[in-house]
Amino acid sequence: MAHGSQGAIPATARRSEPLSGTVRIPGDKSISHRSFMFGGLAAGETRITGLLEGEDVIATGNAMRAMGASIRKEGDTWIIEGTGNGCLLEPKAPLDFGNAGTGCRLTMGLAGTYDFETTFIGDASLSARPMGRVLDPLKLMGVQVKSAEGGKLPVTLRGPRMAAPIHYIVPMASAQVKSAVLIAGLNAPGVTTVTEKIMTRDHTEKMLAGFGASLDVKTDADGTRHISIEGQPKLKGCVIDVPGDPSSTAFPLVAALLVPGSDITILNVLMNPTRTGLITTLIEMGGKIDILNARSAGGEDVADLRVRHSELKGVVVPPERAASMIDEYPVLAVAAAFAEGETVMDGIEELRVKESDRLAAVAAGLRLNNVDCTEGEAILTVRGTPSGKGIGSARGDAVATHLDHRIAMSFLVMGLASEHPVTVDDARMIATSFPEFMDLMAGLGASIDRGVEEPA
Ligand code: S3P
Repeated sequence: MAHGSQGAIPATARRSEPLSGTVRIPGDKSISHRSFMFGGLAAGETRITGLLEGEDVIATGNAMRAMGASIRKEGDTWIIEGTGNGCLLEPKAPLDFGNAGTGCRLTMGLAGTYDFETTFIGDASLSARPMGRVLDPLKLMGVQVKSAEGGKLPVTLRGPRMAAPIHYIVPMASAQVKSAVLIAGLNAPGVTTVTEKIMTRDHTEKMLAGFGASLDVKTDADGTRHISIEGQPKLKGCVIDVPGDPSSTAFPLVAALLVPGSDITILNVLMNPTRTGLITTLIEMGGKIDILNARSAGGEDVADLRVRHSELKGVVVPPERAASMIDEYPVLAVAAAFAEGETVMDGIEELRVKESDRLAAVAAGLRLNNVDCTEGEAILTVRGTPSGKGIGSARGDAVATHLDHRIAMSFLVMGLASEHPVTVDDARMIATSFPEFMDLMAGLGASIDRGVEEPA
């Protein structure tokens, strides 16, 4: 599963005929990780449909198996027998999370407070990412931590006999850190409280309540949230139908907006307001996105989207919207490359610690493909060319994806509307979050060719 720079498989996207058709996007990655984790922890049976079967989520499932959960698939349903809260087993080998920050950081919260040793490893991308943001609160709870320099993987955790509940103010807008602390609180006596100044995705809160945990959320007038969880709850298995991932939806959605003549429908998209910042922004830019059949399913807002080719205009994206579209900036930057005027994306410092330094990777990819942009420490400004003229690389220069699935997919979308083709150096990482991407895009009429494997 681990991908290195050897064996890279490039891919090239070309200007395409109008995209058309109806597609269903695979399950949401954030909810899928949590379904395996909480299902594996809760007593009794959890049944999951619509689970994203990407490499990242499968790694989380394997970690839960290694700690005592039983996980199997019957037809389209994943069936999990959990250990019961407080009853995880010590894993016999290091837990390998591959490329997956969410799986790794949330499992650090889950297993870290146990009075046993857990070692976390991952691929080159994950091993370069900061884990200190999760290790710091775990240390306050009494967890012993060994890590590589700078709080990087490999990390080994050993919990105390009894973890201490804490009140933690999350220093950055991060659902992963918030979640890791709340999940660690499941194995500590008393109340653990997390304060977040900017609301991030709330899947952990919602889903833990669904599994029977007792949570209390207070929101201040300025939007600061204080989330308290009672420790050592009895968690009970439940039934989950995972809605389609809005972060994966972003790719066909932007592609349809950019390719002239396109008209597509995307079914069953999660519309949780903590995840819809991209849709809001694209509508502000003039995107023709119709939200159809808005409904509630399994406690989440879900809708279908009809998307038509649109003439986009540059906008200033407010920094306070960043958390609700944090994974979508790379593909928004691609949309901005075809918008009239300037698009300003500010307050996006968190992009520097994703699967790659996404701010740098996006800016480099834009420049390589002749898009005018300016990169600052926490800001990206893109000046667009609506006709797509000059965009792309006539010489076939490849965008460096740095083991980052969203960089790969974003630039492939760019090539569907640009004058020249756009090539990415490695498309393999797409399997971590959206294994169906190539087939789904081809089904809509997108022209994307997979290259041959680079010799090792
Ligand atoms: C996620 C939180 C976000 C996001 C990631 C998934 C989650 O990360 O980028 O893809 O499921 O909690 P941060 O918490 O680092 O912002």
